[in-house]
Amino acid sequence: MEQKTIGVLTSGGDAPGMNAAIRSVVRTALKKGFRVVGVQRGYNGLIHGELIEMNMRSVSDIIHRGGTMLYTARCPEFREMPGILRARDTCVKAGISGVVVIGGDGSFRGAADLSAQGIPCVGIPGTIDNDIACTEYTIGYDTAMNTAVEMIDKLRDTAQSHDRCSVVEVMGRRAGYIALNTGIACGATCIVVPEVEFTMDALLDKIKLAQQLGKHHFIILVAEGIGKVDEMSKQIEAATGIETRGTVLGHVQRGGNPTVRDRVVASQMGYRAVELLEQGIGNRVIAMQNSKIVDYDIQEALQIKKPFTVDLYKVADEISF
Ligand code: ADP
Ligand code: F6P
Repeated sequence: MEQKTIGVLTSGGDAPGMNAAIRSVVRTALKKGFRVVGVQRGYNGLIHGELIEMNMRSVSDIIHRGGTMLYTARCPEFREMPGILRARDTCVKAGISGVVVIGGDGSFRGAADLSAQGIPCVGIPGTIDNDIACTEYTIGYDTAMNTAVEMIDKLRDTAQSHDRCSVVEVMGRRAGYIALNTGIACGATCIVVPEVEFTMDALLDKIKLAQQLGKHHFIILVAEGIGKVDEMSKQIEAATGIETRGTVLGHVQRGGNPTVRDRVVASQMGYRAVELLEQGIGNRVIAMQNSKIVDYDIQEALQIKKPFTVDLYKVADEISF
């Protein structure tokens, strides 16, 4: 019988743990008797035929590394039908009968489009933002939060020493999950996220009240989707008299060695993705629900709305004085 070939690619923003997922996909597939090719630079590599042969040793020594050994890219060409058809042609020419796509929502839309052209694709959620509705966990989230917490703890030392306020922006595109969780973990006085309405007046009142209760230094966590840390800092300083500095943590949150959680979840999800392709099942996305690995139809997954953890926000709010 002809040996089947599986492709694996990473797409969108890199996330710690993507390498662990690649490793799991490659080794699971080889063990099941597939030939495996790595596609470089996301959908670009599929369009332009950037393929590399993978063996058991190709994925040695990567489980603990951040970034992605396959490189990643955003590929506008793949959003249009000619790009998708060129990618399909690459797959047909290389004998690729299924592709594992590690990325976020955008990458899954691409995976659905390619599945519709006869190349079954399975998505694995890899993004630090944890903003994919069908899954309670995305690969890279835990590492990014731990990195952010480490950085904010350092900022706290200065805020404490100078009796200052530190306004910190964390990543998360349009989602406040990183901000909320790191905010709790760092003892932030206020957490500003796109999912919860906020006014500058309420934020200033909260700082003033905490001041009256004897607080000398303050951390304000702001999600990327809100932004404006410098402007906010100026307003806080003007209204409260507290010396205030703004910091944007930025891309440090995307790098670094993945945590245990990211390595384990990536390994589990990679394994499940190959199991689906082995059965000829495509147009699916792997997810975690109630700590179990499950899978969804991609279109269904993209329709789901992710509820914000308002209970957690309330806890953060009430213990932050
Ligand atoms: P993420 O996967 O992290 O959400 P992007 O939204 O940037 O990141 O998407 C990654 C890539 O997926 C895009 O550069 C593009 O190649 C592909 N993609 C995104 N949206 C679509 C779409 N609607 N149709 C087809 N491909 C898409
Ligand atoms: O989706 C991950 C993420 O880091 C977001 O938090 C952020 O908005 C975006 O990617 C930044 O992307 P870029 O790689 O273009 O800077």
